[in-house]
Amino acid sequence: MKLEAFEMERMQSEWEFRVDINLTESGVEPLAITDLIPDEKERMQILQTKLSYSQTNGTIPLRKTIAGMYPGADEDNVVVTNGGAEANFICIWNFLHEQEGANEIVMMLPNYMQVYGVTKGLSGSVAPFHLRMKEGQWIPDLEELKKAITKKTAAIAICNPNNPTGATLGTEYLKGIAEIAEDADVWVLSDEIYQGAELEGPMTPTIYDLSEKAIVTNSLSKSYGLPGLRLGWIVAPVKPHAKQLWSYSDYTTICPTILSDKLATYALQPKTREWILDRTSRIVKRHWSVMKDWFDERSEIFECIAPGAAAICFPKHNLSISSLELVDRLLKEKSLLIIPGEHFGMPTYLRIGFGYSEDKLKRGLALFDEMLQTLK
Ligand SMILES: Cc1ncc(COP(=O)(O)O)c(C=O)c1O
Repeated sequence: MKLEAFEMERMQSEWEFRVDINLTESGVEPLAITDLIPDEKERMQILQTKLSYSQTNGTIPLRKTIAGMYPGADEDNVVVTNGGAEANFICIWNFLHEQEGANEIVMMLPNYMQVYGVTKGLSGSVAPFHLRMKEGQWIPDLEELKKAITKKTAAIAICNPNNPTGATLGTEYLKGIAEIAEDADVWVLSDEIYQGAELEGPMTPTIYDLSEKAIVTNSLSKSYGLPGLRLGWIVAPVKPHAKQLWSYSDYTTICPTILSDKLATYALQPKTREWILDRTSRIVKRHWSVMKDWFDERSEIFECIAPGAAAICFPKHNLSISSLELVDRLLKEKSLLIIPGEHFGMPTYLRIGFGYSEDKLKRGLALFDEMLQTLK
C-alpha cells in the first residue's frame, strides 16, 4: 500500500523553521528546563541523570503519576511513548493487527490526519463520521457514527478537544459515543492531547472514566508546552491489553528517553501540573482575544468561533482564491505559514495557531492584512 502524504506535517516539516512567522503551531510557547524547574538544586539533580536506556514502557514513578489522572487506573494501565504520535500509531497498528476481519477505523472528521494516514498505510480503510457546525457549535453526528459501524470496524477514533476546530465534547456526547462503542463491542481511541488548554471553564472530560472500551492517548506536547520532550502515553483499561500495546513499542522506538521520563514525572506532579496548565490557560485567553478582535474587524471575510480548547482556530473565509493558493502566497510573498483547510478536507477554511509569541502573532496578522489588501 502506497503511503499517503501527511500533508500538514509535511508542510510544517518543510517550512516551519524557514519562515519568518510560523502560525501553524497548535500548542503554547514551549517552556525551557529553567522555567520548568526554577530551583537550581532540583534542576541539577535531574540534569545529572545518566543517559542510559530507560524502562521501556516508562518508569514506575512516571506511570503512577499518569495513572493518577485516570480514576481506576494504575501503572499497569499506562504505556509511556515517544509523543502522542507514537501512542496513536501503536494503538492503530494494534487494532488493525489483532482483530481478525476488522480492518476499518471509523474516524471523526475533521481531525488530525495521523490516524487516517496510518490506517490507510497499514492497508486498512477509514469510514468517517463528522463534526457538523450547528448554530455556532461543532456537534458530532452520532447517527452517522452508528451507521458507519460494521463488522469490519476495528475502532472508533476521536480527537477531543478537537484538532483543527478546537471543539470540545462534553460528557453527554462522550457517553453517546461510548454507548455506541459498547453496543458494537469496538474500541474507542480518544486522542486527548489538547485537554487542559481550555479557553475557559473546567477541563474537558476524559472518555476513560465513561467506558470500558475507551483507550486514551495524550502527551506533553500541547497543553503542557513541552513538545521537545517527545513524551506521550496510552492509558488502556484492560491490563493485558496495555501490556500487548507495550510490546508494539519494542518495534518502534524501544523506550522514551530517560531524561524526558524524569522531566515528565516532575512536570506532572499536581502542583507543577497546575502551574503549567494555568500558564497555558492564560496564554490561550490572552492570544485568543487578539485573534477575536482581528476576526471581528474582518467579519465580512471570516467566520470564526472561539475554540473550546487548544491554541488554534479554524476560520471559514469567503475569499475568491482557495485556501491552498492563499497559504502558498502567504508563504512565498510574506514568509508567513498557516495551514490550509484542504489539509483537513475543508477547502474554505484555514487553521491558525496562536499559542506562541504574541508579538509574532500580531506581526503575522499584519502580514495577512497586507495580503488581504491585494485580494480586494
Ligand atoms: C491531535 C494530535 N494528536 C497527536 C499529535 C502528535 O503529538 P506529539 O507531538 O506529542 O507526538 C498532534 C500534533 O499536532 C495532534 O494535534
